[in-house]
Amino acid sequence: MEDQVEEIKRKTDIVGVVGSYVVLKKMGRHHKGLCPFHSEKTPSFMVNEEMGLYKCFGCGQGGDVIKFLMEIEGIEFREALERLAERAGVKLINRRKDDSDERAKMLEVMDLAARYYHWLLMEGNAGAKAREYLKSRKINEKIMETFNLGFAMQSWDSLVNYLIKKKGYKEDLLEKVGLISRSAKGGIFDKFRGRVMFPLQDAGGKVVGFTGRILPELAKDDEPKYMNSPETILYHKSRMLYGFFQAKKAIREKKRAVLVEGQMDCISSYAAGISETVAVGGTALTEDQVEMIARLADKIYLSMDADEAGNVAIKRSVDLAEKRGMSIKVVQLEGGKDPDEIARKSTDKWKELVEKSVDVFEYVMNGALKKYDVGKVEGIKKITEEVVPFLAKIENEIVREVWAKRLAEKLGVATKGVLGEIEKKIIGKFENSKVSENKEKDVEENRMVKLARRLIGLLIMRQEAVEVVAPWFGGMIVSGAEGKLIAWLLENRENLPIEVLVENIPEELREVVGEAYMSDDSEEIPGQKEVEEAAIQLLREMIRDRKKELMMEMNTAKQEKNEEKVDEIFSKLDELNKKESRVLAFLG
Ligand code: UTP
Ligand code: MN
Repeated sequence: MEDQVEEIKRKTDIVGVVGSYVVLKKMGRHHKGLCPFHSEKTPSFMVNEEMGLYKCFGCGQGGDVIKFLMEIEGIEFREALERLAERAGVKLINRRKDDSDERAKMLEVMDLAARYYHWLLMEGNAGAKAREYLKSRKINEKIMETFNLGFAMQSWDSLVNYLIKKKGYKEDLLEKVGLISRSAKGGIFDKFRGRVMFPLQDAGGKVVGFTGRILPELAKDDEPKYMNSPETILYHKSRMLYGFFQAKKAIREKKRAVLVEGQMDCISSYAAGISETVAVGGTALTEDQVEMIARLADKIYLSMDADEAGNVAIKRSVDLAEKRGMSIKVVQLEGGKDPDEIARKSTDKWKELVEKSVDVFEYVMNGALKKYDVGKVEGIKKITEEVVPFLAKIENEIVREVWAKRLAEKLGVATKGVLGEIEKKIIGKFENSKVSENKEKDVEENRMVKLARRLIGLLIMRQEAVEVVAPWFGGMIVSGAEGKLIAWLLENRENLPIEVLVENIPEELREVVGEAYMSDDSEEIPGQKEVEEAAIQLLREMIRDRKKELMMEMNTAKQEKNEEKVDEIFSKLDELNKKESRVLAFLG
């Protein structure tokens, strides 16, 4: 399998694949274009043919051609691999044959069930009532096709008969995918009965589960209105976004996803022209779902109920979105109880509400201002208590300050005060000292990482420089992936063509290598001197770092009156000082 991944990557021209989504222009050693993963006006998205990698220096996205396809299409590794294999004319062999055979069988039977339900809805006599019902909800045939809707008959064994008796599938398989249930006596029966069926499709369009809505005339008190497939190896609730397959193109184009609660909301919103709509299906938004959207867009429009539960959902969404660098807007529902009702009454109204949606922080602020009296100290306190925790979630300091200023204006107080409250909230999460300590360390590490990456890029382009530079490091290692990569490059002095070199580099280090290589887009191969200077700059930084550490150790040793240790550190420092002056002498 691993060999095949390599083979497929080797046989795929990444510029061709990426080029079918992004207009690429050859510039120097790389191809450059506008990043498809974030909006930008000047290109910072690079693709390199020899390395088989892409990287955006604006948003940080990067990887190989498989990752690119996963991200842009919102599909899983396996699916991306299959598509590329087909493109490259490689026949995939499954090592874990049993597993993937079983998966394939499960998908096959789900697909057949979906076709069966769909046929019943569109053509069958039994489906007439369901067709009428959907039409009464303004869902036309085209939409029924788009979402592959279906109908499950009011019968205990219609699916069982079709799939088992007629098509010869095994009971076990149907049970495994959750299409049938087993009675206490051991008999089997159709799980979905008398319901409009909504196939749950994965990002690639494959049916992995179902949601069934009871036909109103068949509704019974002891039967739930909506019924879902159980979780299986195909279907994980936390990774399902209803309508994602139909919406993903629009999500990518509009850089936003409109998030609704129910399947009906999703379909009605889509039918109204907001084709970038997806539904969570009655559960709380998860990290995996945010991830799916984040690959294609940078904004999520929430359109949930404005009740207590809705507010909890909003809070949660802000947390998840901020972590992923996405922004949240809130569609304020009016003129109906859910998006479905609103859109059904007037498609224009729904579109207007979506466009009029407000930034989540404004939404929270306005909500609090409506609830409490700004004229009273108590009111100001309450408003602050409600809004500040939200503002504290904002990762970007400037954005945070903008909102702090707005809140301060509304409250008629100084921005400083609001910022102070936000700060308290943030610091409350960590330990005061730790925050600043970490910050300082981060800055240092960043500088080191930059220097290390520069050296990596140069070393790849002029591999013969390794001979000269390697001895200088003499066992000193930078931390992290960059360090590992430098160590690897210094050890493997073979002077290979770049595409061969990249294949030899350990898998986990390839992204770093691509990033380092592509961050330099000059046409020329660097001179020996340039490489040497980069190596020295990095070395000097490393030496300084190590010295700082040793000084700190020295202080502790002195406090502990550990003479032996002090001596030991002293000689280490001495050695470092010598090394530093040698290095500095070289720099001239
Ligand atoms: P609602 O009860 O608000 O239904 O549940 P709805 O979407 O407005 O449906 P219609 O308009 O009556 O047809 C919202 C969502 O919660 C989930 C479903 O995904 C539903 O779309 N739900 C609801 C369930 O999973 N089970 C239920 O029994 C009810
Ligand atoms: Mn509804």
